[in-house]
Amino acid sequence: MRRNLVVGNWKMKINHQSAQDLIDGLIEGLPSEDADIAVCPPYLYIPEVSQRLANTAIELGAQNVATHQEGAYTGEIAAVMLKDFNCKYAIVGHSERRANYADTDTTVAQRFQQAIDADLIPVLAVGELLEQRENGTTFEVVAKQLNAVLEFSGIDSFKNAVIAYEPVWAIGTGLTASAEQAQEVHLFIRQLLAEKNQQIAEKIQILYGGSVKPQNAEALFAMPDIDGALVGGDSLSADSFLKIYSSFQK
Ligand code: PGA
Repeated sequence: MRRNLVVGNWKMKINHQSAQDLIDGLIEGLPSEDADIAVCPPYLYIPEVSQRLANTAIELGAQNVATHQEGAYTGEIAAVMLKDFNCKYAIVGHSERRANYADTDTTVAQRFQQAIDADLIPVLAVGELLEQRENGTTFEVVAKQLNAVLEFSGIDSFKNAVIAYEPVWAIGTGLTASAEQAQEVHLFIRQLLAEKNQQIAEKIQILYGGSVKPQNAEALFAMPDIDGALVGGDSLSADSFLKIYSSFQK
């Protein structure tokens, strides 16, 4: 049985005060579910959020990680630095980084490997654009993104990784993939990994991301290959995020 996981990606949509309020709300309202929960604040707030989360069941993650371990990389944050503040996860390959910050399959693979090397769990985001879905190349696009990391890091590194399927057209748009559309891609991802290693494929958590809300979480989580969610907008409200977290069937 795979454990379920919800991860909140706060993006650059929070400030110092609202981050504190959100953490208070999450800590106060956290139900005791048999599933995992994590938040990914902007880097700057990680030290403080890390302190507040000590001795709680809420885990910490980062929204990105540098492609190198150390060196002359102005403005970058290395995996080992995140580890110093008890981060457990790091999102890599988010579509906003691919689209706006020139992340490529190669740099995403480097980030993934840096996370693995530092004993962080990479949350590898993959997903197609609207035009790619419309012209029927969704599987091809997702396979290319995944294969780039598989070739660079090898299947064994997926023992300690999470995958997030995030159709780009569903991110922040209010359009969600239907549970069936998402399940179809999740199954495809699991089968692609199973060709290399059956056990790893069965064990890996595959999250869905893209306008996940309390209203659609239950239907998504009921699908056999959907093991949780990467949540953007609705992770900024403690109430909504905890409702999503409570949507797994017991
Ligand atoms: P959204 O973002 O939930 O606001 O669509 C998801 C994401 O970007 O991970």
